[in-house]
Amino acid sequence: MSNYRYGNTLQSDVNQELPLRTAPSSRMARPAPIATSSIGLFLHRVRFMRDPIKYLMGLYRRHGQTVMISKGKDKPAMIYNFAPELNEILFGNPDLFHWSIPRPVNAPEAIRVLGSSFITMDGDEYRQRLQLTRNSLHSSFKESWREKMVRHTRKMLEGWKAGEQRDMHHEMHWLAHTIDVSALFSIEDLESVVMLNDLTRTLRQTGTRPSMLMLPLKRGGPYAGMLDSAEKLVAFLRKIIAEKRAGQPQERDMLDMLISSTTENGAKLSDDDIIAEAYTFMNPETTASALTWTLLLLAQHPDVLGDLLDELDSVLHGDAPTLEQFRELKLLENVIKESLRLFPPFSFRRRRSAQACQFGPFEIPGGVPIISSQYVTHRLPEIYRDPQRFDPGRWETLKPTQFEYFPFGSVTHHCLGKHYVNLELTIVLSMLLQRYRLTVAPGARVDRRVSIGLEPANGLPMTIAMQDRRFTRQAIRGNVNEMVEFA
Ligand code: HEM
Repeated sequence: MSNYRYGNTLQSDVNQELPLRTAPSSRMARPAPIATSSIGLFLHRVRFMRDPIKYLMGLYRRHGQTVMISKGKDKPAMIYNFAPELNEILFGNPDLFHWSIPRPVNAPEAIRVLGSSFITMDGDEYRQRLQLTRNSLHSSFKESWREKMVRHTRKMLEGWKAGEQRDMHHEMHWLAHTIDVSALFSIEDLESVVMLNDLTRTLRQTGTRPSMLMLPLKRGGPYAGMLDSAEKLVAFLRKIIAEKRAGQPQERDMLDMLISSTTENGAKLSDDDIIAEAYTFMNPETTASALTWTLLLLAQHPDVLGDLLDELDSVLHGDAPTLEQFRELKLLENVIKESLRLFPPFSFRRRRSAQACQFGPFEIPGGVPIISSQYVTHRLPEIYRDPQRFDPGRWETLKPTQFEYFPFGSVTHHCLGKHYVNLELTIVLSMLLQRYRLTVAPGARVDRRVSIGLEPANGLPMTIAMQDRRFTRQAIRGNVNEMVEFA
């Protein structure tokens, strides 16, 4: 039985920058499933949750690119896939492989509203909501985003002093948050920016989506704090939506665009829909992680950093990049690509089979969770020579498909914020590196944590100096050394 659809039947709204493969190699050998008991399954889940990177890399090293775990001999319970050809099937057939996390339908109202974004939807409901949402992140807004990004980055850099030590992960999180709320809501006053930061941090730290579903069972403790934050955030967003609706229609920010968006047949977003989508766009964690890992990689690779500074000096002469200058910053583009390859802020994505089907070598019933990991696929030596090395030069010739390289996802549910994020990474890195030289603090330990995204568990302490090109590489302790080879 085969329900695959390939090539021209993939959705038309996809990220088509990279060529689609036409079909998987259909005669894949069927790897033996790992048969286990209910307790065994539970232990697998615990190991995955404790350290997803260690677990996924361990599966790949021991069992290869596609692994099925079954309850007993023949009851498929879970699939882990790292093979590009099966990623094509998984992400290219949205009606067969659904987004896997259910919405918090029984949770209190504020949680329900915040957890009902279109990223949790499938089928026609998803397609209609996507139509209404996508324009607010359209690349035609780049110039207005650029102004906000440059202004906030400059403000951060002006607050730093040579000789200081700062936690760069914290700095990058705050910067990404201030830029987000400026681009989304045009909010600039410190009190509101701090309040939104506190509310969203509490929500994200306590409220990963599965635990939101358990909220009615677990009142009190951190859940009470999460609910309180959700209620305050929803009330705040309702208020600014009402103010905007009462004023003159404008196209100043993403919220204006969500409010005014209309489909050809006149459908619009309700206030609850707008709140859910705006909450999804407030996403500083992933941007902050991408910036932090890139700063670490550059500090530990002075040869690359030296070449990058040559490029920045010759194109920008100390200024922030204009949109026209972006295409001249080729090495910076490759540095960002390589950093997102080694440290993809989302290191895995989930889907679930919607019905019985064939998934590559496996026949599976409906309801089987499938995890695909960009972290592991980005390290396949068949695609990436010396995969553990930070080598931006590889991107001069390498042209992987969107199933071999997918830090922003691929096909259905691919990241709508990709243009926005790439702009932000380019602006922040080019401004920061021209002005300051950052060195990892002596004795620093860098371990990973997979929270919202893949981030340094205890931050990244770095020492700040004016940019004088006197680069110093430090010995770093911690499991970051398993993730990249520091030459
Ligand atoms: C470095 C930063 C970011 C990375 C690596 C990233 C990556 C991703 C990935 C991998 C997905 C796909 C999820 C899946 O297939 O299950 C996704 C979806 C999405 N991202 Fe991002 N993202 C980033 C930042 C942002 C930002 C800042 C925004 C908004 C301003 C954003 C908006 C979205 C939206 C709306 C979706 C859902 C699209 C859909 O469901 O159709 N992302 N992102």
